[in-house]
Amino acid sequence: MSAFWHWYVAALTLVFIVVMVWLFISTGKAQVPTGENEQGEKTTGHVWDGDLAELNNPMPRWWLWLFYLTVIFALAYLVLYPGLGRYGGMLGWSSAGQYEQEMVVANETFEARFAALASEPLEVLANNEEAIRVGRNLFAHNCSTCHGSDARGASGYPNLTDDHWIWGSSTDQIWHSIYLGRQAAMPGFGAALSDQDVTRVATYVQQLAGLSVDQTMAAAGKKQYDMICSACHGPQGLGNPLLGAPNLTAGVYTYGGSLDDLRYTIREGRNGVMPAQKDLLGEIRTRFVAAYILSMQQDMVIDEALVRE
Ligand code: HEC
Ligand code: HEC
Repeated sequence: MSAFWHWYVAALTLVFIVVMVWLFISTGKAQVPTGENEQGEKTTGHVWDGDLAELNNPMPRWWLWLFYLTVIFALAYLVLYPGLGRYGGMLGWSSAGQYEQEMVVANETFEARFAALASEPLEVLANNEEAIRVGRNLFAHNCSTCHGSDARGASGYPNLTDDHWIWGSSTDQIWHSIYLGRQAAMPGFGAALSDQDVTRVATYVQQLAGLSVDQTMAAAGKKQYDMICSACHGPQGLGNPLLGAPNLTAGVYTYGGSLDDLRYTIREGRNGVMPAQKDLLGEIRTRFVAAYILSMQQDMVIDEALVRE
């Protein structure tokens, strides 16, 4: 709040209170012409419809005091709590401070309650119903905005329920992805490759994924691929989890597999960022959410085993 608004708000608030008190006292003192009716009651002398007279009784004492009490309350409140512009109040209270305090308490309760469970190995947590439930909850609040409420991802955000892992599928690698975050860097080749070459190499990428495509185009694309792309995506297109370069033979894409999507990726590059949860969720919570992700992975493995039988 700038100095102007600080003084403006503070002065307006105080002047308002003073004016209210003044108004109250001055109207209380105002002399009204009085008369008396037949019952001997005081009247203002105003009469309507011939016999409807306005009485002139003083306001009840308790009502008066109630009014002064509210004024005293307001002044005390403004001294103790923030209300006058930038002045923070003698108690130092703030809504943000209260929120933080409540969060600290909630955090401590959570950690006290779950610390023992969280210290179990991730593989054990991934089979523990309570851990999975807590993890699913945390996922809904902290991850679903990007990865979708069912963790199946969206354009630009990988599906976390399939067996296609960009950064590796081991427990350690998945833990690293979540706790320390990931930063992918696929440079754009729009400057190095002509439009035609981009289309050719995109066609080759489709062939890598098993699509039947124009052979001449794909063969020309393979030349470019071997020169430029294989360094990161591997000579067979199997990818490199150390770089976050995805496997291009699976036909599973973060950014889409249509010729246009692929051309865009190759021309402009992609720089997906997975935010590190170390300072966001902290270790204990991240362990639960990782357990939830792993639990879905295990479902997958079990399903596959059933299919194989
Ligand atoms: C310096 C390493 C590097 C090189 C060279 C490179 N890529 Fe990539 N590529 C990556 C990384 C890392 C990603 C993941 C980007 C992301 O997730 O944001 C990626 C992503 C992609 C994707 C998107 C896959 C998806 O899931 O949507 C395609 C397609 C692709 N690369 C094709 C190519 C082709 C074709 C070339 C050669 C012209 C190439 N890349 C060269 C590192 C590289
Ligand atoms: C701001 C969006 C965003 C949020 C929030 C987010 N992620 Fe991600 N996450 C991404 C992106 C983007 C990637 C892919 C990075 C890349 O391009 O390689 C990713 C990658 C991952 C990966 C690695 C996937 C793989 O195939 O290797 C995991 C695991 C993951 N996220 C889990 C989580 C969990 C659990 C949370 C919640 C605690 C979360 N993410 C929150 C954007 C997000």
